[in-house]
Amino acid sequence: MKERILNALKKSDGYISGGKLSEELNVSRTAVWKNINSLKEEGYEIISKPRIGYRLISNPDKLSEKEIIPKLETECIGKKYIYKPEIDSTNEEIKRIYSNSPEGTVVVTEYQTEGKGRLGRRWISPDGRGIYFSILLKPNIQPFESPKITQITAAAVAKTIIDLGIDAKIKWPNDIVVNGRKIAGILTEMSGELMALDYIVVGIGINIDIDSKDFNSDIIGRVGGLRENIEDLDRKELLVNLLKNFEMLYKEFIDNKNIEKSIDICRENSAVLGKKIRIIKKGKEELKKAIDIDEEGGLIVEDMNGNRETIISGEISVRGENSYI
Ligand code: BTN
Repeated sequence: MKERILNALKKSDGYISGGKLSEELNVSRTAVWKNINSLKEEGYEIISKPRIGYRLISNPDKLSEKEIIPKLETECIGKKYIYKPEIDSTNEEIKRIYSNSPEGTVVVTEYQTEGKGRLGRRWISPDGRGIYFSILLKPNIQPFESPKITQITAAAVAKTIIDLGIDAKIKWPNDIVVNGRKIAGILTEMSGELMALDYIVVGIGINIDIDSKDFNSDIIGRVGGLRENIEDLDRKELLVNLLKNFEMLYKEFIDNKNIEKSIDICRENSAVLGKKIRIIKKGKEELKKAIDIDEEGGLIVEDMNGNRETIISGEISVRGENSYI
């Protein structure tokens, strides 16, 4: 009922009377009034004028089903869309529900109490000041191909931000960087056996409004928020566009078995190619030059003697020669 009242308010140009709402939706005026109050509690700004009716002034800045589902332009990604105002981790929620959920299920939250980053790190997820979500994927691929999903996602996130006019770069394999500061990260986790993949969960965290109080002093210089780069930013639009871009690139992989377009985006907007980078694995560090990203999503690097090797994301961290990037 609430949804239908909201839709009627959204469709109407100006005021719509309580009488008209109750007649059109076949409910009592008291029910209309109660639902309007409930919508107000959810953050919808609705004004009411005696004998004239109700008018919707603004929608809440929430990534709720009501706000996102009508705007989605995807066929599969987000077809099942689950919104939780607060949760431990959206990746963990996908793992709890994957067996009864279709491919493309999206879990979104405003606040994570135990947001997870790569390599066992935490992902700080302050309430309503970022976009935190995970996508469930059930592709028919071998487990060793799963790093491709990270590259597809990195390409989708970078493209979505670049389309806003922001110069976003990808720090292989999974960081999105703007002005040398990390503004988004991707955590790809998979479940399955050596030769048989069960499912993949890809989690994306984007910082929007960051506050130095949320982060330790040692990392605050390395993280940034998108709002620093664009004031007029709509979280809902960003999420909807990101899901669309992700679907387009993922579909190319599923339908044609290639990720050329994603790799092109990763190469063109790479923060590391052509640079000397430090490759950190289990506490050990090596200095190499980043040469290229291959069709599988691996990073081709060269040592000081000109020997080349390809690294896959796994347990590896990449840093700039002298700084984070
Ligand atoms: C990283 O850069 O280390 C990866 C960060 C991934 C964070 C996202 S936020 C949504 C999803 N849920 C999580 O617990 N983590 C990912």
